[in-house]
Amino acid sequence: MSTTFTLDTSTSRANPTPAPMKRLTVPAIRGRKVDGVTADPVVMLTAYTARMAQLLDPHCDVLLVGDSLGQVIYGLPSTVPVSLDMMCAHGAAVVRGSYHSVVIIDMPFGSYEASPQQAFESAARILKETGAAGVKLEGGVAMAETIAFLSARGIPVCAHVGLTPQAVNALGGYAARGRSDAEAAKIVGDAKAVADAGAFLMVIEGVMEEVADAITAAVLCPTIGIGASARCDGQVLVTEDMLGMFERTAKFVKKYEDMASVISGAAERYASDVRARTFPTDAQVYRPKK
Ligand code: KIV
Repeated sequence: MSTTFTLDTSTSRANPTPAPMKRLTVPAIRGRKVDGVTADPVVMLTAYTARMAQLLDPHCDVLLVGDSLGQVIYGLPSTVPVSLDMMCAHGAAVVRGSYHSVVIIDMPFGSYEASPQQAFESAARILKETGAAGVKLEGGVAMAETIAFLSARGIPVCAHVGLTPQAVNALGGYAARGRSDAEAAKIVGDAKAVADAGAFLMVIEGVMEEVADAITAAVLCPTIGIGASARCDGQVLVTEDMLGMFERTAKFVKKYEDMASVISGAAERYASDVRARTFPTDAQVYRPKK
C-alpha cells in the first residue's frame, strides 16, 4: 500500500492518504503472545526522523527510536555519548510522523542506571516531551528493580538483553554473546528477571540462536530478535542497515536495498548536470505567467 502525505503547515503534521489504521497500543503488542505462542509476529524497525517514520509506519507494529542514532545520524563511535536531549528531539519527530505504530524510545546511557528514581525522571521526560508509548532500556538482573518501578508507575518498558551496546566498554566489543554455557545461562537468567519485573516486550540482541530460543520459550512477553533467532516473537533491524546505507553490514543484517549506491549515483548525476549547466532546465525555473 502506498501512502501519500499532505503537510498541514499550521500544525507541522503530515496527513496521510489513505487514512491510517488506528494506533496500536502497548497492551495490544503485549497481547500478541498468548500461552507462549505469537501467531502474528511483531514487526519493528528503527526510525529517527519524521519522514522515515511516515514511510515505515504503515508496515510496522513498533517504531523504535534507538540510541543507534548516535552512530547512524551523528557519526559517533558508539551509543555511549548519546544524550536525553537527542532522544527527546528525535522521538518527538517520529511520533509526529507516525499514526499506527507504537513508538518506543531508548533511554540513553547514564539516564537510568543510577537508581529507579533517576530512571523514572528520565522516562517521564521522554514520554512528556515526545508522546511516545514507552521506553527501552538495556540490562538484565541489575535493571529488574528499575523495570518494576517504572512499570508500576505507568511507564511501559521494553527490556534489552544479550549484547547490550551501551556496555561496549565492559564487554570489549560487539561480538555475539552466549557462546559458553555460563554466559548463556546468565543471559537467560537476565531475560527471566526483566520479564518477571514487568517488561511488556524484550529485545534479544546478538546471541547464539539456542539462547534466544530458550528465552522466547521461557518468558511470557513477546521477544524481538536482532541477531538472535527466527523463532523470536518478532524482529527488529536498524532501518539504515536493511536499506544498505552502509558498505559494511553485520552478519545478522539482511540488505533489502542498496541505498548507498542509489544516493551516490543521484548525487553524481546532479553534480554532472550542475557542472554542464544542464540543471536547472525550463521545467525548474520561474518565469512571469503570460
Ligand atoms: O539502538 C537501537 O537501534 C537498538 C536496536 C538495535 C534494537 O537498540
